[in-house]
Amino acid sequence: MRVGILTSGGDCQALNATMRGLAKTLYANVKDLEIIGFKNGYKGLMYEDYIKMKPSDFSGIIAQGGTILGSSRCPFKMMRVVEDGFDKVKAMKRTYKKLNLDALAVLGGNGSLKTANLLAQEGLNVIGLPKTIDNDTYGTDYTFGFSSAIEVATRYLDEIHTTAASHGRVFIVEVMGHKVGHITLAAGLATGCEIILLPEIPYDLKNIEKKIKQRKAQGKNFTVIACSEGALTKEEATLSKKKYKALVAAREGRSVVEYIAKDLAKDMPELEIRTSVIGHSQRGGAPDAYDRTISTRFGIEGARLIMNRSFGQLVVLKQGEVGSIPLEDTAGKLKYVDPAGKPVQNAKLMGVCFGD
Ligand code: F6P
Repeated sequence: MRVGILTSGGDCQALNATMRGLAKTLYANVKDLEIIGFKNGYKGLMYEDYIKMKPSDFSGIIAQGGTILGSSRCPFKMMRVVEDGFDKVKAMKRTYKKLNLDALAVLGGNGSLKTANLLAQEGLNVIGLPKTIDNDTYGTDYTFGFSSAIEVATRYLDEIHTTAASHGRVFIVEVMGHKVGHITLAAGLATGCEIILLPEIPYDLKNIEKKIKQRKAQGKNFTVIACSEGALTKEEATLSKKKYKALVAAREGRSVVEYIAKDLAKDMPELEIRTSVIGHSQRGGAPDAYDRTISTRFGIEGARLIMNRSFGQLVVLKQGEVGSIPLEDTAGKLKYVDPAGKPVQNAKLMGVCFGD
């Protein structure tokens, strides 16, 4: 049996642990197994850039961050676009056939899983494993990397709290999440932030100001705001997708926290405001214990799917059980923070302000 593996999109913790779980299970159960590791995500599959893996390649990597195969972003919307005469889908199918693969395991987030679904529809034997710190893959309660990212963001926000308190400052801290706020919500709650801004809950600056004043009146002379990359005002939320994209592009990479700080300073010049961006360390370093365990379970399930020739499936976690769903059921959908859901509603009950 010949099995291809690739890691695609933004990296995260536990990519290696997942591959290890998959590979060890296959090696333990399949005779004459050969694993082909494609380098840098779908690019490796397109351009026949691969390594013939050995069992020892998967040893000693459970705690290793990043991905031993490398990764890259190959946007789904460009997959069907032929560029300079190069047909990406055709090329990927060609490599798969040329290498005589029996299956391809894709470790990826939403965009990568859309491409995995496309390849499955094109007749390749594909399985998906749900990777992303954002935990926004539809159809699974969990994506590996999420817990480790929360840990990083939590440590960071804890550290900001002590310096904010010493200086009586307002800190606006950017947490990763362009479209969804799962990490911000989790780390914000874990660090006792009383203002949490998420893409799913557009804010009104006045409500943030009210909360800062309320805290002051309670004797708290500092505030730490946990703010998603994709936080937006109520007004911005009414813009068309195109106009909102143009607005974000006009920021030229500057963080949303800079703009909130500027607006806040205009209304409340008495505040000493600082901003901080946690950034890519949220995706880096060793996976935590939970991610190592769950990704091992995911990897084992992925191997089981391949051995049972149950293709076109995504490994998922549902109510504590690892299983799988059809790739086509997840492709193109996102799992958002539910503004009406319990985590948000309970936080509001104890006074957390979401700016709405
Ligand atoms: O999807 C993972 C993620 O880290 C998001 O949280 C973040 O918005 C994005 O990737 C950053 O992308 P890049 O690595 O391309 O800067």
